[in-house]
Amino acid sequence: MSTKRESIHGQWSNRWIFILAATGSAVGLGNIWKFPYITGENGGGAFVLVYLLCIAAIGIPIMMAEVLLGRRGRQSPINTMKTLAREEGRSGAWALLGWSGVIAGFLILSYYSVIAGWALAYVLNAGSGVFTNAPAAEIQNIFAALTASPGQLIFWHSLFMLMTMLVVARGVKKGLEVAIRFLMPALFVLLLIMVGYAISSGDFVRGLRFLFTPDFSKITGEGVLIAMGHAFFTLSLGMGAIMIYGSYMPQNASIAKTSIIVALADTAVALLAGMAIFPIVFANALEPGAGPGLIFQTLPIAFGSMPGGSFFGTVFFVLLVLAAWSSAISLIEPAVAWLVENKGWTRIKASAWCGFATWLMGLGTVLSFNEWSAYTLWGKNFFDLLDFLTSNIMLPLGGLFIALFAAWVMKSSSTADELKLPENGMAHTGWRFLVRFVTPVAVIIVFLNAIGVV
Ligand code: PHE
Repeated sequence: MSTKRESIHGQWSNRWIFILAATGSAVGLGNIWKFPYITGENGGGAFVLVYLLCIAAIGIPIMMAEVLLGRRGRQSPINTMKTLAREEGRSGAWALLGWSGVIAGFLILSYYSVIAGWALAYVLNAGSGVFTNAPAAEIQNIFAALTASPGQLIFWHSLFMLMTMLVVARGVKKGLEVAIRFLMPALFVLLLIMVGYAISSGDFVRGLRFLFTPDFSKITGEGVLIAMGHAFFTLSLGMGAIMIYGSYMPQNASIAKTSIIVALADTAVALLAGMAIFPIVFANALEPGAGPGLIFQTLPIAFGSMPGGSFFGTVFFVLLVLAAWSSAISLIEPAVAWLVENKGWTRIKASAWCGFATWLMGLGTVLSFNEWSAYTLWGKNFFDLLDFLTSNIMLPLGGLFIALFAAWVMKSSSTADELKLPENGMAHTGWRFLVRFVTPVAVIIVFLNAIGVV
């Protein structure tokens, strides 16, 4: 049966806007802030290789599955899952998958906003010229002073949450389309400039070697889990963000092509960020495993010594904020859409309440960098735990169930119909094989491996 529903929340004008929006969701702090620091913490090349394998074998097939579910259901992930499950004659309990996504989105945004707040603070820092000719030690002090101050962190976190909820309140089309049209290309160009700096002034060869020479003795079971979790995080998979963007996708656009374009763009940005950062790390004898502060302690060194550095630094952090912004919107959109659909709230009311709850939760992350930094569980503070739980457990589990639903619950004729591929052709059969067997088995093995069972 072919279902042609319409979304009550609107639709993207054409497939390019979907690509921009999905890329806007995918490209964010995950690529520029998180990818470099977890690569640094997990020893470089081998970690990058596992991450790339996960993007190809798990990420792209699941992205296709998520977009396809979204476009077929055309509602918030919770209602989409319920509708599609009933349509295939299954239990409405599949809606739980939507719920776990809403919770994951809420938890991720709560800390994402705090980190985006750092980027906001750095727009000001870069603009004021404090990095100019500053030695590396001074630059580290600037970062330490920011994270030591709950007041400053709360200020920037509040500002970022406000920005996010403003766009969400205005609605997908009006709010997002305008914001993302020029952002992605501009970010790309700036990253190329940064890589140019790394080539001319950093230890480029050592940086490349660190990123691309796999040394498997450096990677652990937990490292593999982190690489896989990051593949989900960076592509915005496993929690319904891409599903809801899929629900706004025009009926005639190709899901396979668009998913591949989004995944490639996202990966390119992450690799460029790595190539910009590690040469600076090595040229200045900094620690690759410095943790979440890595880019804030390295890139300013480049901005401080390159010609026009204050200008480029300001533009860079503005773009980083914008990239984080377009991701943040997609983290909360599933929750807002559900409130509008099921509670009949206006978008403004739904955004305000979601924003407030997320803001409140974010205070935990703020404090984990200062007052609460001594409180740890398994060596992880509040922020680390939240990040671990969401990226490495909730998103892969969500992705696993999305794969199981798309390939085991949905009939082959339904998926072929929505993907617009011939049912028995190579592309559809290959995709179904990946989502049916390869993806679920890979996710399960990585989980078992991380807890030491295999
Ligand atoms: N993909 C975003 C990033 O890399 C984060 C994100 C995760 C957004 C999950 C939406 C859903 O920054």
